[in-house]
Amino acid sequence: MPTIAKVDFQITPLDAPLGAVVTGLDASQPVAPKRILQLKQALRDYHILIFKNQQLSDEQLLNFSFYFGALFVPLDETPVLASKPGETPLIISVSNVDGGYTGTGELTFHSDHKWTPYPSSGSLLYAVEIPSQGGNTYWLNTNLAYETLDIATKERIADLQLITYNPFLQDRNVPRNLYRSNKSIPLISPVFPHPLVRTHPETGKKHLYLDAATEVEVVGLEAEEGAVLIEQLRQHLNQAQFYYQHKWSIGDIVYWDNQATVHYREAFPANERRVLKRVSLAGSRPF
Ligand code: OGA
Ligand code: MN
Repeated sequence: MPTIAKVDFQITPLDAPLGAVVTGLDASQPVAPKRILQLKQALRDYHILIFKNQQLSDEQLLNFSFYFGALFVPLDETPVLASKPGETPLIISVSNVDGGYTGTGELTFHSDHKWTPYPSSGSLLYAVEIPSQGGNTYWLNTNLAYETLDIATKERIADLQLITYNPFLQDRNVPRNLYRSNKSIPLISPVFPHPLVRTHPETGKKHLYLDAATEVEVVGLEAEEGAVLIEQLRQHLNQAQFYYQHKWSIGDIVYWDNQATVHYREAFPANERRVLKRVSLAGSRPF
């Protein structure tokens, strides 16, 4: 009788600034305590984990995700992708078809739900259908981005707080830069300043806590001075030496740490289907 090779559980770091591949684990089944602890440690070490060849029902995806934390639930006044007061889906359809939320365009580097008071600690994205080209996702190591800043910049930003304006709450009649320069214009959403240099709640490492394009304001700096600083930091952030580019296969689950990374998605052809399912985990107040 032919023997079927059993693939043993293995965590293999990528040859990249972040990321590890997990093989020999069936995420649809209960996972042994020892393995869960290994995965949690690997996430601290590598910031994103890539699980290959999975096949999960929605319930199984949720059950696997909840080994790593509770669900992120948005407040009514701080909407996020797909949120609806009182009825935000547990699993978000990251899809360009069938009522999905994310279209086919590029998504600039961001971490999930950063404008909320307690942003998501991590998200799991499960690939169900992928296009024949484009649609790769990149994850960027924000600890590396921080550590490679020059000393003067590190000192300058050490105690700064940053407001990230909620892109899901916008008064389209008022250019957002006026909120910064003309303080008599009322804000249409509550804002939650977070440290520009974030300390990871588990590893204690420092991370540049900034995304590539969302509208922001540095608390306490003149609008112009803040904008110049953010532009300089964003240019530094956006370097290939900090990121890993993931080409999806059906059955991949990528679990990333929103406290240690930002992610970006390439555009893909509008006539193709791309269907992924996302679970975002609750997080704590950044410090
Ligand atoms: C997300 C997201 C990127 C992608 O689900 O939070 O940013 O590749 N997705 O679809
Ligand atoms: Mn995202």
